[in-house]
Amino acid sequence: AGIDALFKAKGKQYFGTSADQGSLSVKPLEALVESDFGQVTPENSMKWDAIEPRQDSFSFQGSDALVSYAKEHNKIVRGHTLLWYQQLPQWVKQITDKAELTKVIQNHITKVVGRYKGQIKAWDVVNEIFNEDGTLRDMVFTQVLGEDFVRIAFEAARAADPGAKLYINEYHLESKSGTKVTGLNNYVKKWIAAGIPIDGVGLQGHLGGSNPTAAEMKDGMELLSKSGVTELAITELDILNAPADEYVKVFEACLAIEMCVGITTWGVSDANSWLPKDNPLLFDHQYKPKDAYKAVVELL
Ligand code: XIL
Repeated sequence: AGIDALFKAKGKQYFGTSADQGSLSVKPLEALVESDFGQVTPENSMKWDAIEPRQDSFSFQGSDALVSYAKEHNKIVRGHTLLWYQQLPQWVKQITDKAELTKVIQNHITKVVGRYKGQIKAWDVVNEIFNEDGTLRDMVFTQVLGEDFVRIAFEAARAADPGAKLYINEYHLESKSGTKVTGLNNYVKKWIAAGIPIDGVGLQGHLGGSNPTAAEMKDGMELLSKSGVTELAITELDILNAPADEYVKVFEACLAIEMCVGITTWGVSDANSWLPKDNPLLFDHQYKPKDAYKAVVELL
């Protein structure tokens, strides 16, 4: 059986991958999504520049295609992402008025989340909002609204689909004592205590090279599991050169932490990775399983 079935047999909810219309039209890639993955995250089609390129003018073609694929093939969908400083159109970056930016965030989230109500298991409501030192990133949202943009975004998402799990998604959290993970952890505690409807933290899991390794992933997740959230997920896993023991450590970490609901790799094969020279995924350029794939199957 593929990794998704094996992982579910161990009590987890899914093993998934990023995908979109383009990658899913590649036959050998789609065949692997069928055999090994139970969840899909739109790699780009739900980002702000793709879905609301001009104010209140929405373009749902790519996101609709991904969501219908998931429905037809019985895959869970994670929504990615509602608020991010990248792939953000210029018209949003130019807003300087508080009331205006609040309305723009509320409208964006209400329309996007509302369109797929009941069809998205979890949303990355905010993405990459922290600096490495654990403070909030300098970007249009903090410049105009301070940290209040977090409440505005999560409340709009909760109202638009009360059944979806709402996540803060971030990179470089794969550490037990780094300034970023501890800073985020403190903010999440404070925000949840203040009634902001945050359900989960997503650890992106881009590992190796100048990024963290998997060594402290389990301890980092242990720390975050006490922040007040009810779930954790590894949302964008890929590891420089895909060492088998590193992949195994990531799966072991998720298995060891009850709150960890699933793992998503950021792509299927090295042939379609966003980091084409890193060979970071479980399948090679010919769509053949790599050593890391075999080691994960062995573990499961
Ligand atoms: C990446 C996509 O994979 C690329 O195709 C795109 O050009 C840039 O974005 N963190 C994230 C993802 O949260 O959305 C990014 O995806 C990778 C880093």
